[in-house]
Amino acid sequence: MKPINGIRRVAVLGLGTMGHGIAQTFALAGYDVACYDASASARASLIERVRANLAAFVAAELVEPEQVGPTLARLHLADTEDAAVAGVQFLTEAVPEDLALKQDLLARLERTAAPETILASNSSSFPISQSGRLLHHPQRALVTHWFNPPHLTPVVEVVPSPLTSGAVVQTTMQILARIGKVPIPLRRELPGFLVNRVQVAIQREVWDLVDQGVATRDEIDAAIRGTVGFRFAVMGPLEIHDFAGLDIQLTTYRNLVGEIRSETSPPTVLDELVGAGHLGIKSGRGFYDYPPERLVARRTRRDSLLLRLWKLLYHSSSGEETS
Ligand SMILES: NC(=O)c1ccc[n+]([C@@H]2O[C@H](COP(=O)([O-])OP(=O)(O)OC[C@H]3O[C@@H](n4cnc5c(N)ncnc54)[C@H](O)[C@@H]3O)[C@@H](O)[C@H]2O)c1
Repeated sequence: MKPINGIRRVAVLGLGTMGHGIAQTFALAGYDVACYDASASARASLIERVRANLAAFVAAELVEPEQVGPTLARLHLADTEDAAVAGVQFLTEAVPEDLALKQDLLARLERTAAPETILASNSSSFPISQSGRLLHHPQRALVTHWFNPPHLTPVVEVVPSPLTSGAVVQTTMQILARIGKVPIPLRRELPGFLVNRVQVAIQREVWDLVDQGVATRDEIDAAIRGTVGFRFAVMGPLEIHDFAGLDIQLTTYRNLVGEIRSETSPPTVLDELVGAGHLGIKSGRGFYDYPPERLVARRTRRDSLLLRLWKLLYHSSSGEETS
């Protein structure tokens, strides 16, 4: 593999929902990946979690069975943060969404990593100007925002601050493309970046429809999956509007924009579920129930369908998205 700007070894700090899939993606593309998590159990389970993910790639014929061993061998578990960072040219943190935690971690990493190492943050909402507030060399840092599941979702948002160097942005874009991602650069940083702002707008209305009892949870999920979600896989919202007719869109917008939820207080249904400890799959119950066997079945179904969709739309020469 011809390295991009000398980058051969990367580090991932935080190996939870996001970090393990990010590490897998780099390793599958041929990078040596130093992996660190503050939790010993997260470190101990990394290889088995990635092995299980790769089994789905093999089943989808996206990875040859003989690639699994070498990919796992490129994941190098580190016992300390300092050991993870030694000798890497690019690193990303994927620790919990806690501003002080990320600020302190990035400041430490700036001191321990080599001066040329690019520092990336996988925050869902904090621009690097915030999470990197304690950095002395902010030109090295930017956000690379992956989406869950990180090893299956094509796009990564790339969000520099006004102080990030152009070379760092360019190298990061090239590396993400090399590992098979579709990097989307943002021209300016803003909280939530691009995609999560749109997701929050959708969620506010969906939760309000639940609160109003307009339809059942299953009906709401089925309605959105079979319309907006179905189309979004093949066309972005702006192109969809072109096909629908912008005059129609303008009228619909005028008629409805005052009708949909605009309050910023949390929706009742979400407050109640979280208050009762129903956090989704991590607690076994959210909008739906997840006894262990159902969770495994739903996750397997999700991964297998996403892999087929990815293959159809993004793999090699089959989709325009990769060109
Ligand atoms: N879960 C998602 O859907 C999603 C999507 C996009 C971005 N993100 C962002 O990714 C980041 C990680 O989220 P997640 O869902 O993977 O969280 P997670 O809780 O699943 O994993 C975080 C991991 O970080 C470890 N950790 C905590 N402090 C650490 C430290 N100082 N050093 C090293 N490891 C440490 C924890 O032990 C844990 O394993 C967050 O900023 C989150 O907002 C999450």
